[in-house]
Amino acid sequence: MKVTPFTLERFFSQTEFNARYHLAASAIMTWTLREFINMTDDPGFEFSLFATQLGYTEPEGIPDLRREISGLYVNSTDLNNVFVTIGAIEANYLLLSTLLKPGDRFIVQTPFYQQLAQVGIDLGATALFWHHRNGKGFELEEFKTLLEQKPTLVMLNTPHNPTGFAFSPNEMRQIADLCSERGILLISDEVYRELGETLLPSVREFSSQAISIGSMSKAYGLAGLRVGWMVGPPEIIERCAEKRDYTSLCASAVGQHIALTALKHRTKIWERNRQLRQRNITLLENMINDNPILRWQKPEAGVVAWIGYSSKIPSEQVGWELYRRGVLIAPGIFFGEEGHFRLGFGGNTRKLEAGLAILADFFNEL
Ligand SMILES: Cc1ncc(COP(=O)(O)O)c(C=O)c1O
Repeated sequence: MKVTPFTLERFFSQTEFNARYHLAASAIMTWTLREFINMTDDPGFEFSLFATQLGYTEPEGIPDLRREISGLYVNSTDLNNVFVTIGAIEANYLLLSTLLKPGDRFIVQTPFYQQLAQVGIDLGATALFWHHRNGKGFELEEFKTLLEQKPTLVMLNTPHNPTGFAFSPNEMRQIADLCSERGILLISDEVYRELGETLLPSVREFSSQAISIGSMSKAYGLAGLRVGWMVGPPEIIERCAEKRDYTSLCASAVGQHIALTALKHRTKIWERNRQLRQRNITLLENMINDNPILRWQKPEAGVVAWIGYSSKIPSEQVGWELYRRGVLIAPGIFFGEEGHFRLGFGGNTRKLEAGLAILADFFNEL
C-alpha cells in the first residue's frame, strides 16, 4: 500500500521538541509520573504500579481497563465491545484499513486530522469531503447530499480536530439514523469527548452498530502511555484484532495499568482540565478580539482552535517564521486548508500567555 507522509507529524518531528512555546499540541497539559501519583492520593497506587507484571497482556486489553472504558458509554457494558489499542491512531488505522477497499467511497470532514482521510485515500478509496462552514459548522444538508454517492463508510470526528466543533445529540442521532437506514458503517473519532463542559455523547448512544474511538492522550494528558480504544460490534473488533496480531500484539502493560487508574480518577482529572481550559480559552479569545487580522469560531469542546488570518502568506511559512521566534503552531495546510493555523490552548497558562504575545506581534506586523 502507498503511504503518503503524515505532513503534520513530519513537521512536528523537526520542531516539536525544540519549541520554546509549544502552542500546537492537541492535548491537555501532560503530567509527570510523580504529579500523577500525587493526584491519585492513593499510597496503594504506587505499590500496585511497581507490582505490574511486565509481560504481554491480553491482546484485547486488560479486563479491568476494558471495564472502566465501557463505563464511559451508556450502552456498552459488554466487554466484547471494547478493544484497547496503541492510542486512537492505531484504532483509526486498523478500522480504516480493514473496512475500506479500493474503489470504495467514504465521507470525511474537512479540514481534517490527516489520518482520517489519508488512510482511505492511500488504499484507493475516494474521500467525499464534508466542509466546515464558518459560523455554521458542518451542515446536515451537505451530509445528506454526500450520502447520495453511496459511501461504504462515514469517518466522523466529534468534537472535531482542528475546529473544536461538536455535533449536538440531536445531530448525532440524525447522522446515526441516516447511516443505519442505508447500511453505512459509522466510525466516530471521539478523542476530545471528555473535553467539553460535560462528558459529550458518543455515537454509540444512537447506534449499536457504530464504532467509537477514544484515547488517554487528549483528555487525560497521558499521550505517553500510548493507550486508546475502539468500542463497537464484536465482529468488527475481531477483524481488527486479527490484523493487529501482525504488528503490535497488545498495548503496554504499564500504560494500561496507569490508564486504568486515570479512568478511576476521571472526575478529578476532568475537573482539573475544565478549569485549565476555561482559563486558557479566555486568554486566547482576548488575543483574537484584539487582532483584526485573525478570526475564529470559538471551539465548543477540545483544546484546539482553528484560526483564520487575512493575509496571502502560506500557512507553512507562517509556521516556520513563528517557530524561528520561538512559537510552534500547526499550519492549516497540514489539515488540507490554507489561510489558517491550528492553535492548541490546553497547556501551561503562563507559557500560553507568553507565546500568544509573540504571535500577536507577528500578525500585527504583517
Ligand atoms: C482526531 C485525532 N484522532 C487521533 C489522534 C491520535 O491520538 P492518540 O495519541 O490517542 O493516538 C489524534 C492526535 O492528535 C487526533 O487529533
